[in-house]
Amino acid sequence: MNRILGSKHDLTTLNQRAGAAAMEGVAYSDFENACVYCHLPPEKELAAPVPGQIAGWNRVRPDTTKYELYSSRNFDSTPSRPNDISLLCLSCHDGTLAVDRVIHKPQSWQSGIDMSLHMRLSDADNLQSCGKCHDGAVAHNIKMKAIGTDLRNDHPISIRYAGLDLSIKGFRAADSPQGFKNGVKLFDGNIECATCHDIHNPDSPMMLRTEGETLCITCHTN
Ligand code: HEC
Ligand code: HEC
Ligand code: HEC
Ligand code: HEC
Ligand code: HEC
Repeated sequence: MNRILGSKHDLTTLNQRAGAAAMEGVAYSDFENACVYCHLPPEKELAAPVPGQIAGWNRVRPDTTKYELYSSRNFDSTPSRPNDISLLCLSCHDGTLAVDRVIHKPQSWQSGIDMSLHMRLSDADNLQSCGKCHDGAVAHNIKMKAIGTDLRNDHPISIRYAGLDLSIKGFRAADSPQGFKNGVKLFDGNIECATCHDIHNPDSPMMLRTEGETLCITCHTN
């Protein structure tokens, strides 16, 4: 069921995938557990929340004041900031925090051996950024994956889905408050990054919950 192991979100195996010992321990710490870069380690699942934590997740909340969000013409629920479940993704993909910036390191991990640069998923050319190597010359260009903090050109997120309890022309009714039968998922009735993406399903192109064309018409009628 969980196929994240060995995928691009498995930060314990990227060196193997890359066929070079370029990254782990250099660009970021290898915690030897692929889940803890997002999920709390088992021994910390019930730990008291830490200031700055994205509640329920093993990640630091990015500065939420710097996002530029899509503002809706049709909805009065234009968000002031992304919701936590999308901040989880943005905590890596906006390039402001290191990919290994977790709240709790696993108990088994020896911090004494930490020599890494704690790089960020950014295409900038400096020692804080994966772009140092991922410039298209040394290694593949990481720019497309580094979506930054200006989200106005991306699909709107953290807005309540129209077809749920709002009736707005152009949108289909959701099958349930949790979303659609084809797997497209709503979170508290909202559209979030994980509405369209299931990062536990790397076999699907771009980790999308359903194929390109059918994805859009799940919600949009035109
Ligand atoms: C890059 C971040 C990330 C990593 C790494 C990650 N997960 Fe998740 N996981 C999520 C998100 C986001 C959700 C909630 C969205 C969803 O339901 O798909 C989730 C949900 C889950 C769920 C609940 C699914 C459900 O339908 O309610 C399980 C179980 C899970 N993850 C297991 C794992 C395991 C095991 C690993 C390590 C092998 C792992 N995850 C690694 C982000 C991650
Ligand atoms: C711990 C850091 C981290 C978190 C958190 C994270 N990602 Fe990623 N993501 C990455 C890395 C690293 C890559 C690979 C970048 C590359 O290929 O250059 C990636 C790649 C992707 C890709 C491209 C996949 C492909 O096949 O090219 C998508 C889509 C994606 N992430 C979506 C998400 C979503 C949605 C979330 C939140 C549920 C999320 N990510 C959370 C680190 C993260
Ligand atoms: C010292 C140089 C270097 C640094 C720094 C570096 N990488 Fe890499 N990375 C490489 C090389 C070389 C490859 C293999 C060639 C390629 O995929 O372009 C690679 C491959 C990858 C892959 C592809 C693995 C695959 O087969 O799909 C991902 C994802 C990745 N790196 C993520 C990152 C992230 C995230 C960072 C920053 C936290 C980072 N890298 C920092 C050198 C580096
Ligand atoms: C409405 C559906 C939808 C939502 C919501 C969504 N995405 Fe995507 N995403 C896509 C589709 C479709 C693609 C592939 C086509 C493309 O590149 O535009 C994609 C591509 C990506 C890629 C890879 C870009 C590339 O070209 O390599 C990343 C990374 C990504 N999304 C992350 C995110 C993050 C982070 C969020 C939340 C801030 C998010 N997505 C929200 C549908 C969505
Ligand atoms: C989960 C439901 C859902 C999915 C899936 C979805 N959308 Fe949307 N989309 C919405 C909602 C809701 C809005 C907000 C409309 C508004 O503010 O008027 C929106 C807005 C948009 C907008 C901005 C429209 C405007 O008025 O400026 C574009 C463009 C768009 N979607 C394209 C897509 C594409 C392309 C896909 C497939 C990759 C897709 N959507 C998938 C629900 C969805």
